[in-house]
Amino acid sequence: MTDRIIPIVRASLPPARDLAAPPQGELFDLRRRRVRDLRISVTDRCNFRCVYCMPKEVFGDDHVFLSRQQLLSFEEIERVARVFVDLGVEKIRITGGEPLLRRHIENLIEQLAKLPVEITLTTNGSLLAKKARTLKDAGLHRVTVSLDGIDDAAFKRMNDVDYAVGDVLDGIAAAAAAGLAPIKVNCVVKRGANDDQVLPLARHFRHSGHILRFIEYMDVGSSNGWRMDEVLPSAEVIARIHDEFPLEPIDPNYSGEVAERWRYVDGGGEIGVISSVTQAFCATCTRIRLSTEGLLYTCLFAQSGHDLRALLRRGGGGEALRREIAAIWRGRDDRYSEIRTAATALPAAKKIEMSYIGG
Ligand code: GTP
Ligand code: 5AD
Ligand code: SF4
Ligand code: SF4
Repeated sequence: MTDRIIPIVRASLPPARDLAAPPQGELFDLRRRRVRDLRISVTDRCNFRCVYCMPKEVFGDDHVFLSRQQLLSFEEIERVARVFVDLGVEKIRITGGEPLLRRHIENLIEQLAKLPVEITLTTNGSLLAKKARTLKDAGLHRVTVSLDGIDDAAFKRMNDVDYAVGDVLDGIAAAAAAGLAPIKVNCVVKRGANDDQVLPLARHFRHSGHILRFIEYMDVGSSNGWRMDEVLPSAEVIARIHDEFPLEPIDPNYSGEVAERWRYVDGGGEIGVISSVTQAFCATCTRIRLSTEGLLYTCLFAQSGHDLRALLRRGGGGEALRREIAAIWRGRDDRYSEIRTAATALPAAKKIEMSYIGG
């Protein structure tokens, strides 16, 4: 058995270039972070009921989702996206709920793809086999597919709607064939629920060319009954895989990258871990989130959003929108994951759900 290794600690990485002295005129928040990554949620609905995200007890038949009139139109989303690109955004991620449930999502992608940014999408993969080609043709660059187990029984326990692994794997294959690469496969690890899937998933995706990433189960939202003892620290994930397939750390692709990257020493490819609980990455957080109904959230754990829909529907033109968004970013001071302790944890009722704001 190989010796256990200690994963690199984020704090020991060289200072991020993004945190150097701000050039004149550039947009920085109160912690000198730029806005780089806009995440747009296009629906609060999903056909899965993942136990850590939309548990059936809360998201049952009588749950009220947003109505059509409440949603931002594609035209409104595009107006917001344009302003953000102008302010420095380099990557747009389409999220949900399950974004492929939004009707004609390819039309939105086609519009966004005209902007000089990378367009990505996070999906549960269930509709990907059907839609991968259309999405690629519309201009989507790549996809991230959530998959919380490779054994059917384990996966069904997590998605709680009896959805089979094979169908998601077909979706991943279709995305690869369409050229939506590199494909990232995200697994949220909940100790005692699917942590027995870490090694089987690693075995499955070695040599596949896809990048498997394990995410620490977070205290996001108020419906999942999160407990710290259900978090499997990334260090433990790495140690378990390293025992069977030796790993070595690799440099981030860009400063502020959420995932810590590792590669198999034998050339089996790359994996990642996202340690939002045990090694928070707020210091380099360049992300902002637009909800389905047009509220702007400067943090996954923000207790309220800034209403852009009202401004958009008042006919607020480009300049008013730009001023409003710039002011929101300038006033941003969030670092919830860094300061989270039992004492500071938000009261459950105040937290927004991941299915509402996107991953
Ligand atoms: P790429 O580098 O473009 O592939 O995307 P990414 O690494 O930003 O990852 P992705 O969007 O797939 O995010 C993966 C998961 O990381 C999310 O589903 C969340 O669980 C977590 N995550 C992403 N961004 C944040 C963040 O800003 N704060 C916290 N606390 N968690 C985040
Ligand atoms: N903790 C961590 N990630 C979560 N996601 C949803 N809920 C949680 C949570 N409690 C993320 C996962 C999933 C994506 C849709 O949202 O990455 O793949
Ligand atoms: Fe749906 Fe993704 Fe939430 Fe699962 S994690 S319920 S697939 S939005
Ligand atoms: Fe960014 Fe908030 Fe997540 Fe920290 S907790 S990384 S500030 S979104």
